[in-house]
Amino acid sequence: MNVLVIGSGGREHALVWKLKQSPKIKNIFCAPGNGGIEKDAKCVDIKADDIKGLRDFAEKNSIDLTVVGPEIPLVAGIVDCFEEKGLKVFGPSQKAAQLEGSKVFSKEFMKKYDIPTANFQSFSDMEEAKIFLENKVFPVVVKADGLAAGKGVIICQNKEEAEQALDDIMLARVFKDAGNRVIIEDCLVGEEASILAISDGNQFVVLDSSQDHKRIFDDDMGPNTGGMGAYSPAPVITKEKMVDIALNVIGPTIQGMKEEGAIFKGVLYAGLMMTSDGPMVLEFNVRFGDPETQAVLPRLKTDLLDVFLSACDGMLHETRLEWDKGACVCVVMSSRGYPGVYEKGKVVEGLSDADDCADTVIFHAGTKKQNGQIVTCGGRVLGVTSIGNDIEQAIAKAYNAVEKIQFEGCFFRRDIGAKALKYKEELSEKRI
Ligand code: AMP
Ligand code: GLY
Repeated sequence: MNVLVIGSGGREHALVWKLKQSPKIKNIFCAPGNGGIEKDAKCVDIKADDIKGLRDFAEKNSIDLTVVGPEIPLVAGIVDCFEEKGLKVFGPSQKAAQLEGSKVFSKEFMKKYDIPTANFQSFSDMEEAKIFLENKVFPVVVKADGLAAGKGVIICQNKEEAEQALDDIMLARVFKDAGNRVIIEDCLVGEEASILAISDGNQFVVLDSSQDHKRIFDDDMGPNTGGMGAYSPAPVITKEKMVDIALNVIGPTIQGMKEEGAIFKGVLYAGLMMTSDGPMVLEFNVRFGDPETQAVLPRLKTDLLDVFLSACDGMLHETRLEWDKGACVCVVMSSRGYPGVYEKGKVVEGLSDADDCADTVIFHAGTKKQNGQIVTCGGRVLGVTSIGNDIEQAIAKAYNAVEKIQFEGCFFRRDIGAKALKYKEELSEKRI
């Protein structure tokens, strides 16, 4: 089979790496890919948002399956565009992608179908939003409606901060049209986790849990990023909670979307807060998480191509996922300055030493090949990923490999996976 993966990040490298293990794959392409994906796939110089260009490529190269990584082409309708030409593509339609593309749609949907989430109000008028703030208990969370590359969520400790957030989003329009409407919602307290589920529109399978590390600095300090590392499984999601999430979040979402006439085929990503009242949805995404995917897929034993094909063909009821019993940790190495401004073009050294480390794979994100060398070209540069019998082992292996890699201004968190260790300690204290 000929497969095309769309995107250029660590997530797409992990998808390519995993798909390639399928004996059914003849050719695997990635558009546009990156410096590391080049080793595993034929990279094609077409941007992820060039929908027509990608469709032409898929037609000309007899692509049997296209897998879409990022949200922008999904929200722009890439799946509808491919399907019009009879091309098989794994991902939701434009209508279904609204679950990520519009927070107002997503919150109204959750309210309608009784899916647990924070109480909220939506506004298209800034003055009305400001009046609403008068009687609020703080903190509150202000969210721009549309896609804002993960930056459109502001936790406001008091009225002044909330008014400032509204001014920025609705008046200064820092997120452009994504700020035409806003959500103001209650601030939830708890530990976060990510659940990814694959659906064919009717049935779904839930992937093992994972946890992202969104803040730039250790101990969850500093500004939000795209994600500085992840591990899987996340012990905060017990077996019972997983059942709860499948029954009360994923199931009703797939069913509700069907009722809305927006059948959901693809990956449903539920960003959850584990509150004292149970799991609550912070957000839905309609794609694989980055870097969660890098931590989840190395533990998946099942052929991912088969899973995607079953989802596209409405045959997911035949699918059972098998998992490695151990743990996986992905440490993101980033460019100094990220998530703000950072320098590019730094030579990355030590990659082959790191690659030689046992049970370790280096997923590339912001890299490119230049004069035979790998150089940085993005904020998140690499996802150094190791699998171990348990979380301690996976952490040790991943950081051992991280130490072998250098580039000027390299930055990474030193506490990826530490939250999982805490559960182990608690468990052993209980046993004593
Ligand atoms: P989102 O893009 O909606 O997932 O929001 C990004 C991050 O903001 C989440 O991962 C949470 O850390 C935080 N967040 C979003 N909504 C809430 C909320 N209602 N309460 C507390 N934190 C939130
Ligand atoms: N890791 C967060 C996301 O993929 O949205």
